[in-house]
Amino acid sequence: MVQLTQHNAVKISVIHGPNLNLLGHRDPEVYGKESFDTLNQRIEEHAKANGIEAQIFQSNSEGALIDRIQESRLWADAIVINAGAYSHYSYAIRDALADTRLPTVEVHLSNVHARDEWRRHSVISEIATGIIMGFGARSYLLALTAAKNLIEESHR
Ligand code: DQA
Repeated sequence: MVQLTQHNAVKISVIHGPNLNLLGHRDPEVYGKESFDTLNQRIEEHAKANGIEAQIFQSNSEGALIDRIQESRLWADAIVINAGAYSHYSYAIRDALADTRLPTVEVHLSNVHARDEWRRHSVISEIATGIIMGFGARSYLLALTAAKNLIEESHR
């Protein structure tokens, strides 16, 4: 887990699901050559430059992701999540996200609508505040900014 603490920053729980730890090795034509560590560095830099406290978590297991989502309810202002393949069928992750009642931005590196038929449906999209996909690592950065804007607007 990578932590970045800033005073008065918007707190965002960034959650990566299964197989994203293998970025850089995994299908580089689809997901790019950038490693998982580099992706997280970019997330941290973007967060720091934009007054966001990003706490980053990755797991390959559904239960650990659900535990993290439940914990996020206690400290985060918003969730940015790429649930990987779980996005397409995990009602348990969808319910956990809905139960937090936190604004949630669903992220995908790839444009899932331009790929296999089974990737076109996400059970998370139904409860997400918004979805950003197809921009590679930048999808996460756009999601952080979108989540921050949402939080700030709701405090006005
Ligand atoms: C993904 C798309 C999913 O379909 C896939 O299973 C992933 C990554 C993406 O970021 O593009 O693991 O969520």
